[in-house]
Amino acid sequence: MSDAATLRNRRILLIIGGGIAAYKCLELIRRLREKGAGVRAILTAAGAEFVTPLSVGTLTGDKVFRELFDLTTEAEIGHIELSRSADLIVVAPATADLMAKMAAGLAGDLATTVLLATDKPVLIAPAMNVRMWNHRATQRNIEQLMADGIGFIGPNEGDMACGEFGPGRMAEPAEILAAIENHFSEFAFSGEQPLKGLRALVTSGPTHEPIDPVRYLANRSSGKQGHAIAAALARLGADTVLVSGPTILPDPPGVDVRRVETAREMLAACEAALPADVAICAAAVADWRVDVDASQKIKKEPGASAPELRLVENPDVLATISHLESGRPELVIGFAAETEKVIEHAIAKRKRKGCDWIVANDVSPETGVMGGELNTVHLITGGGQEDWPLLPKQAVAERLVRRILTHFTEKGSRA
Ligand code: CTP
Repeated sequence: MSDAATLRNRRILLIIGGGIAAYKCLELIRRLREKGAGVRAILTAAGAEFVTPLSVGTLTGDKVFRELFDLTTEAEIGHIELSRSADLIVVAPATADLMAKMAAGLAGDLATTVLLATDKPVLIAPAMNVRMWNHRATQRNIEQLMADGIGFIGPNEGDMACGEFGPGRMAEPAEILAAIENHFSEFAFSGEQPLKGLRALVTSGPTHEPIDPVRYLANRSSGKQGHAIAAALARLGADTVLVSGPTILPDPPGVDVRRVETAREMLAACEAALPADVAICAAAVADWRVDVDASQKIKKEPGASAPELRLVENPDVLATISHLESGRPELVIGFAAETEKVIEHAIAKRKRKGCDWIVANDVSPETGVMGGELNTVHLITGGGQEDWPLLPKQAVAERLVRRILTHFTEKGSRA
């Protein structure tokens, strides 16, 4: 659980790479120190073009490490010692260049030498232009780094400093902080897997409903919440299937990911993934699809009026799973995305859909929940309502998974 004690006396070695997002590291250092963590920083040569050693050093309260062959430092504290003295290494921003060097095992400067020489866990927060992120070389490096056990935080999708839009924006300090806390959380730290043997099914992301071969109906869901839930379940040992609509998110480690496009495909993939002990429907499934999906691109004929699209209702994945006569998961959890009367609508939705718990969240545009990092939710169970504070989506996932653990533990102890 993300609480203040999680970071007390933890030692974080922060490697600051060269990207405009480096300024966010100053806020990150401040927040880490507020929570009682010790932070040492390595600033790469490119990183120093964006933030000054003076700002970094003032916030860490320590020397800022910059040179591989710094005689004073090597005498006092060498690169091996730098990694030895940390509980966790965090690279933020992790540029395309730094990631490529890590994937290739290069060690040409202090940052890469420490990363190659370390046996400590490493989390990276990538930040780069969308085309660099999508480039095959970067995608190859991502796969390699994941296979090497490197943890990823983000990147996010959004407006970029370079004026483009897409995946590649560095995660916000609150999100990086949550990932670090999560790393040190009780179970993650002990490696304990209290959900071992539990089968979980999670839906995530939007669905895309085709209009013709090049156009589709969709919504703004990023999939962050569903993916974070699947990751948290797998981390605690649950055998987890994630049925995901189209997202730019990397597959969470240890999760069996099944990618789909449409609501109908999502339902079929969920049915194929059953039986499960717990099902969590976090996907923003499109309620409607176009009745006829044109086999050829609809042409804009000169002078002709705009085509009329007739919508038909999609199957409801959550309601279908909740109402299964045989093989219904013991615990079915839905989400209620509401823009007004959040609790009232969520309570009615829980009844209507037949699920056991519902996580209500306010998705009105001013909250920035859709596609954003933070979420304020209310958990509605048969026994009542819990109001959770504003939390990063990862922390919401952790908390929900703890509640699931409690549910199955209490049930086990009653049996
Ligand atoms: N859901 C689903 N299949 C659908 C629609 C929704 O599985 N075709 C699930 C979502 O994953 C979520 C819950 O139902 O867990 C509620 O989704 P939401 O969009 O809030 O509700 P809707 O059913 O779409 O109702 P409304 O749009 O009227 O609020």
